[in-house]
Amino acid sequence: MSDIVNLRGGGSAFVLDLSGETPVIVHWGADLGDAIPAVLSAGPVAHSALDDPHAQHLVPQASSGWRGRPALEGHRSGGRAFSAALVTTAARALAPDGHEVTLADEAAGLSLTVEFHLGQEGMLRIRSTLTNVGTEDYALQSLSTTLPTGLGAAEILDLTGRWCREQHPQRQSVRQGTWLREYRHGRPGHDSSLFTAVGTAGFGNRSGAVWATHFGFSGNRVTVVEKTPTGPALIGNAELLGSGEIVLAAGDSYETPWTYASFSSRGLDGVTDTFHRWLRARAQHPSAVRPVVLNTWEAVYFDHNLDSLVELADRAELLGVERFVLDDGWFRHRRNDKAGLGDWYVDDDVWPQGLTPLIDAVRSRGMQFGLWVEPEMVNEDSDVIRAHPDWVSGAGLGRTPVEWRHQQVLDLVNPDAFAYIFDRLDALLTDNAISYLKWDQNRDLTEMGHEGAPSVHEQTLAAYRLIDALRRAHPEVEIESCSSGGARVDLGILERTDRVWASDCNDALERQTIQRWTKAILPPELVGTHVGPTTSHTTARTHSLSFRAITAMFGHFGIEWDVRTLTESDLLELSEAVALYKKHRALIHSGSAVHADLVDPAYLLGGSVAQDGSEAIFSFVSVATSFDEVPGRAGFPGLNPDTSYEVKVVFPSATSPYGSRGNVSWIPDGFTATGRFLAEVGLPMPVLNPEQGVLIHLVETAGS
Ligand code: DGJ
Repeated sequence: MSDIVNLRGGGSAFVLDLSGETPVIVHWGADLGDAIPAVLSAGPVAHSALDDPHAQHLVPQASSGWRGRPALEGHRSGGRAFSAALVTTAARALAPDGHEVTLADEAAGLSLTVEFHLGQEGMLRIRSTLTNVGTEDYALQSLSTTLPTGLGAAEILDLTGRWCREQHPQRQSVRQGTWLREYRHGRPGHDSSLFTAVGTAGFGNRSGAVWATHFGFSGNRVTVVEKTPTGPALIGNAELLGSGEIVLAAGDSYETPWTYASFSSRGLDGVTDTFHRWLRARAQHPSAVRPVVLNTWEAVYFDHNLDSLVELADRAELLGVERFVLDDGWFRHRRNDKAGLGDWYVDDDVWPQGLTPLIDAVRSRGMQFGLWVEPEMVNEDSDVIRAHPDWVSGAGLGRTPVEWRHQQVLDLVNPDAFAYIFDRLDALLTDNAISYLKWDQNRDLTEMGHEGAPSVHEQTLAAYRLIDALRRAHPEVEIESCSSGGARVDLGILERTDRVWASDCNDALERQTIQRWTKAILPPELVGTHVGPTTSHTTARTHSLSFRAITAMFGHFGIEWDVRTLTESDLLELSEAVALYKKHRALIHSGSAVHADLVDPAYLLGGSVAQDGSEAIFSFVSVATSFDEVPGRAGFPGLNPDTSYEVKVVFPSATSPYGSRGNVSWIPDGFTATGRFLAEVGLPMPVLNPEQGVLIHLVETAGS
């Protein structure tokens, strides 16, 4: 076996040197071809430093001189085995694209296996398994995955936010020290970053080198960018474990979640492309067309009534809706958000004949029926908690955690609570023709405990098991990960769900940013995007229907608005938007996501280009007023340079968003040009008011 492992895929490479005592990462970055000179691992020895040259170990340990954050932290009683000296004992290739290295420290009684893969799309995946091969308990504190960045890495980009303002970017320079973010929400949380990226100075949507990672887990986590005097910045991910949360008895193992990583030499769009390709290639990726949704939440909230909901279904049918989702408020005691969670029986007072009359009405109008649930949560004011107060998760000690939206967390680690909730959901899905569950989770899991010990880890795995068991029992049912909009978006939950609700904010201006960055990792077909009310319920901003529809177009499109109140012209324009989505969804849900690097922050140009380059759809939107009088030319990225395209504005058509002076000459009749011309010269864009937009369709001209 060669001592060099050179995994290659998607223009990138991950190179390891196994010749020493422990594996050394020689390179993670651009593809180097087949030949790797051994000298790549070697370096000079610094003054007043270790006597051996610094090397970037796959498993950084104090025992090899590493003084940054160690990969493994833990101990046996009395602090023994606090530092391990894990050395390579075995390595083997894993078909078709991976490798596995086993390290052990006999004296410490520990064994560690690190598994990594680099797929053909460029996705690097790493996870580790620690086994206690000693005879006494080992208390694990942390097991991280750490990756080095490369030449010129200078800037950190990650995301942050709060409820209704999720996934907003923040940038800073790489400096000596550690940029550390801890998420102790028991779910990723509204402020969590979908990725951590480090790139060359000024890296953009389509320029610069970028090293990015994502942590595929829905519990607590820590992400770091660490720069020490010894070398380039490192990116690290680990599950954040509570005190005493993981104690490995003799023979027990702990497996880390997957860290997903992508290197791009062509800016963020390259990272996006890798993630989208990888996700789309999964066996469980939704293959059916993403139906137009009508969600009842912002239309009726808790005010459930058969007649008004059938009226809503009538309108939905007229608009071309394909899936009708009944949101919160249908079960016992749930007249507001203070009671009922956990009592998963249809409320006889509101629904004397059960949900059947509504489901029948929806299905007879040609739509699927979907239902809201929040299985991991309970209200203390519920029959289930009155009967089983001990099913509330918490720190024990005779108290329950502080309330959040008047609710508590159901202790799914308790087998009885788990069985109860599984049985209720199973019965609901068996007794009713439900095609879709909107699976909500509306509070942080603070002080999450089972029998007095921390249990976020076990609770997260139990929630996964619950969804997996339901999917096995009802494979035809799709599930959305909602989590108060955007608080549980990660590749762990997406292994078992079909879409995420990106935010509770349906304000199209906010959504432009939230969706752009959620889709930096997730392809649009996995991201729920709804046309909300004219005046947003969460920001009180008022937007035109065309801007709201254009914003919702680039995702899994839906409507969350009381469509019974629509004027004739709104009905017409919304029907037109629904038809456009249906026409272009195959392209949006399979194409390559592209984002232009416009200099003027007032405008955004982005879209989806067919994989063969034959067609594309873009939105050009204004998100602020500009210093410039006119937007000027914008170049269309991602097209085939030699293909000739016919370019047309396809929406809005009913009312022009720009006055005749603000219009540009190519818009009325369209324009034909090569991809090269459209990228390099670009087209002049119309004058738009802030929070207006146009949808532009490009198609290869016949014979081009
Ligand atoms: C939070 C969700 O994100 C909303 O869409 C809605 O389902 C409410 N919960 C219902 O309580």
